[in-house]
Order: sequence, then structure tokens, then C-alpha cells
Amino acid sequence: MFDRHRLMDAPLRDFLRSLPAVRELVLDMFCAASLDVAAELGIPAYFFFASSASILAIYLNLPSVVANMGRSFAELGDSPFSLPGAPPFRAADLPKIVLDDDDATRAFLRLLERMPESNGILVNTYESLEARAVHALRDGACVPGRPTPPVYCVGPLVTGGGDDKHECLEWLDAQPDSSVVFLSFGSRGTLPKKQLQEIAVGLEKSGQRFLWVVRSPRSDERKFGDPLPDAEPDLDALLPEGFLERTKRQGLVVRSWAPQVEVLRHRATGAFVTHCGWNSTLEGITAGLPLLCWPLYAEQRLNRVLIVEEMELGVALRGYDEEVVKAEEVEAKVRWVMESEGGRALRERATAEKCRAVEALNEGGSSHAAFVEFLNSL
Ligand SMILES: *[C@@H]1O[C@H](CO)[C@@H](O)[C@H](O)[C@H]1NC(C)=O
Repeated sequence: MFDRHRLMDAPLRDFLRSLPAVRELVLDMFCAASLDVAAELGIPAYFFFASSASILAIYLNLPSVVANMGRSFAELGDSPFSLPGAPPFRAADLPKIVLDDDDATRAFLRLLERMPESNGILVNTYESLEARAVHALRDGACVPGRPTPPVYCVGPLVTGGGDDKHECLEWLDAQPDSSVVFLSFGSRGTLPKKQLQEIAVGLEKSGQRFLWVVRSPRSDERKFGDPLPDAEPDLDALLPEGFLERTKRQGLVVRSWAPQVEVLRHRATGAFVTHCGWNSTLEGITAGLPLLCWPLYAEQRLNRVLIVEEMELGVALRGYDEEVVKAEEVEAKVRWVMESEGGRALRERATAEKCRAVEALNEGGSSHAAFVEFLNSL
């Protein structure tokens, strides 16, 4: 992937030259190599960082951390790790690409090292959600020995779906307020059949209403970047025998996809079991829902730390970093969030956070002001 980006330099250069007047370029983090094209054409370049400010704080620091570290992250294992702008985390919570030690790792670190060369970094977050990270970034504590470009927190940017009313929204219409647990593992998240079965047993035993998006299981040979299995899941073959029939009044299983933003904002939805991708996290927060964290890959284990330890907007399902999350754990956490005093307190914090997210985007709010500041800098 990194090599292919480099091959895009020439077409990008031609494209930019063909346009009448390109005033600035906004790049995804993975396109840091395009900084060279921007520099050659004299076009200021910015980044849009699609994850949190805390992840940005960690990532910007990683190249120098790695350069100064005697051993590998893998050797550090479970020992806690502290970097400016982020709560303590385990080295093992870092993305796999950082934990590995190969060409892709070096290419990734090189991208991160180049981000401070930009004219600014837009981040999909808002200041009050991540005050610690925002301050550390502004103080220059995350890029040792070099200046940090301006960081503009312009989120939460969340886009909702289409016009057609999906069948699951009609089902939600018939459910009581805040009574349904929604489970979805993101656009790339797939679980093995064994895990799907544990979830099914746990949900059924919890007695709580659920709406569950099930994708076809991943094959063990699938590598990062390989296409996802596009076959619709065969629910009868994947889920325990009789499950769909027994739970037809308790829950709904949807194949492959649901209009997530609409589901999360539906009055009947009461909690969100999420893989902690940053889009999903913001979608859950802006819907005011408590989060049950089940990280799968990339920076999602770090997001879990943020959500649980720093923001206190969720709890984790035990076992996500082991072989399987057991049915008993699914049942226990679903009941906890829906039935317990602790779950009620969590819901109240989530509701309050939703209001702060709205305020940030309103005129006079921090994200609105940051976006105006960004426009003025152009
Ligand atoms: C996150 O949301 C944005 C905006 O809706 C979308 O363009 C992007 O593809 C999403 N990212 C992932 C990983 O789904």
C-alpha cells in the first residue's frame, strides 16, 4: 500500500497542475508521501486525521520513542507505557503495524514522522472530549525537538445515511425507549463463527432486546487489505440452532449492514457494543449512548483505553484480547449496562457528553471556532 501511494505522485502532480488554482491540499495520514508533490508545486498541505487527538498525540511521538528505545514494543508486553497527551496504556495496545518490526512498520513510522512538516492538522474530535491530548499537542510535547503544526479540532464530524427506511428502523419503532442493545463491528470487522455463537448465547440469556449486525466470518488466511468476504452470511448455518426462532420477539439479526447513525440515534436504542473504530465511537458519543468496548484491530485497543479510562463513557468486554469473548461475559455486560445502577450512571454521563458534542459544533463552540481559524489560515 505504501509503495503504491508513491506511484501516485506523478498522476497527482499532473492532476493538480491541470486544475486552475489549487490553494491547498488536505491529505489523509496515509498519504504523507504526497507532501513532496505539494512542496514541489508550492501548495500548502494539511492533514485530516480521522482518529482522535489522543491517538494523534501518541502517533506523533512514536518515531522518536522508537528511535530512542533499546528494545521492541513486543518485548515490553503488558508493562504500562506513558506518553504526553494520553492516559497510560500497555505497549500491547498499540496497533499491530507498530508492534511488528518490518518494512511496513518503518514505512508507517516514516509517515508519522512527516506529519509535522504540514501546515496544520485537522482532527475529528472536539477539545472538551480530549483536553489532555489537545493541551499536550498545543504545548509541543508530542513532537520532541521539532515544532508541532497548528492542530484544529473540528469534530465530531458524523455523516448519516440514505433516504430508504431500513427494515431494522421499523423494528426499532416498535420497541420501548432505550431498551435495545445495538451490536456492530464496523465496516471491516468480522468475527469467527465460534465467536458469533458465544454472542448469540450471551444475548439470549441476557433477556435484553438486541439488534445485531452479523457479517460473514473471516477466513484465517485473510490478510490486511484483502477484500472482505462479500457473501451474505448464512445466519442459519452460523448461529446456534433455533436461536433466530427463539429470540424473534427479543431481538433482530441484520445481515452485513445497518444504517448505524440512524440506529444509534433512534429513541429505542439504549447501548452500543462497538469495535471502537473512531467513526463508530463518535457516532455512539453523539447519540449519547454508553459504549461496550470490543476492540478488534488498528488503533482500536488504544481507543478502548481512552473510552474506558479517560472519557469514562464505556466499559470493556473481557476477553477481546484473548481467544474469545465468552457468552457469560456478553450476558453479564449487557445486563450490567441495561439493568444496573452502574449502567444507569454511565448512561447519564453519555447523555451529558452528547450535549457537549453538540455545543462544540455550534456557533461559539470550540470546533466551530477551530474551523474558522483553519479557514483564516488559508
Ligand atoms: C468514517 O466516516 C467518514 C465520513 O462519514 C467516511 O468517509 C469514512 O470512510 C469512514 N471511515 C471508515 C473507516 O469507515
